Amino acid sequence: MILVLGATGGIGGEVCRLLKQAGTSFRAMARKQEQIDRFHKNGGDAVLGDLDQPETLTAAMRGIDTLFLVTAPTPAQIAQETAAIDAAKRAGVGRIVKISASDCNVRSPIPWAKSHALIDHHLRASGIDWTILMPTAFMQNFLWFTKPVAKGYLPLVAGKGSVSWVDTRDIARVAATVLTQDGHSRATYFLTGPETFDMTEAAVQLSQVTGRKVQYVDLPTPVFRTILRMTGSSRWMANGLVVQFADMVAGHHDIDPTCEIERLTGQPPKDFAGFLRDHRDAFVKSAA
Ligand SMILES: NC(=O)c1ccc[n+]([C@@H]2O[C@H](COP(=O)([O-])OP(=O)(O)OC[C@H]3O[C@@H](n4cnc5c(N)ncnc54)[C@H](OP(=O)(O)O)[C@@H]3O)[C@@H](O)[C@H]2O)c1
Repeated sequence: MILVLGATGGIGGEVCRLLKQAGTSFRAMARKQEQIDRFHKNGGDAVLGDLDQPETLTAAMRGIDTLFLVTAPTPAQIAQETAAIDAAKRAGVGRIVKISASDCNVRSPIPWAKSHALIDHHLRASGIDWTILMPTAFMQNFLWFTKPVAKGYLPLVAGKGSVSWVDTRDIARVAATVLTQDGHSRATYFLTGPETFDMTEAAVQLSQVTGRKVQYVDLPTPVFRTILRMTGSSRWMANGLVVQFADMVAGHHDIDPTCEIERLTGQPPKDFAGFLRDHRDAFVKSAA
């Protein structure tokens, strides 16, 4: 039995959809009763569990062979994921498939990159079998920018830096594959899209899909940070995003494309043009 954490989120939700489509038995974990009721209503198996209340995890992990571990990037992430790993160990889970990040590093100034590195080390030292997926930045992050894009601007602090953006649906495809196959123990896979491009090229493609001119604006970092704060990002998130884009991306530290998605699933990853076509309404409706 597979237990999917983050089952109401972007990657975890898609993993559930793919496992269901393939007829694979799995259980979703969620922290609210109404979420559990929704899974049950759709014919799914689901169990209550809250990563902020580790005592709830023992029951949630009973009878589980393989755990899919993903949480949101927050200051609680290390505590949440180590609690899940420790509970899995106690419950006798055989393998954990974990979402990490391609830039994870214990010395990173990017908070979630450092968190992932520390959690990955905890997982590797746990004695449980593991498969670690290290995606680059998500194409879905562009959906944060639907409103400025509608006004003709793509505001960031990435300089001329490029990213090998990956579609979260491809990450989920890899996760669903390795969750259900042998041969991925103690493996780390770097997951990217098929191409690397900078924000000027992203703006050109956004212009093509929306049918109106979109211009990349490389903002001064204090302005970008202020916009993030004014539009609801926490100080922790705003500072992290500034470092991520102004240092990591602008400094050309992102990885080049890998072939792992096609090698593992038999299908190439989606390109940015395909992602934009699939989400055209989100950008165009925002303009309307
Ligand atoms: N964005 C990027 O470009 C990027 C790049 C590389 C790696 N990553 C990594 O990808 C991960 C995020 O993936 P995602 O976008 O699929 O995540 P997401 O959509 O934010 O989903 C997070 C999930 O965690 C659940 N959750 C939150 N708090 C919980 C708790 N206390 N107990 C149980 N469940 C809880 C949420 O449930 P609720 O619905 O109840 O909130 C939700 O299902 C992060 O680890 C991030 O560092 C991101």
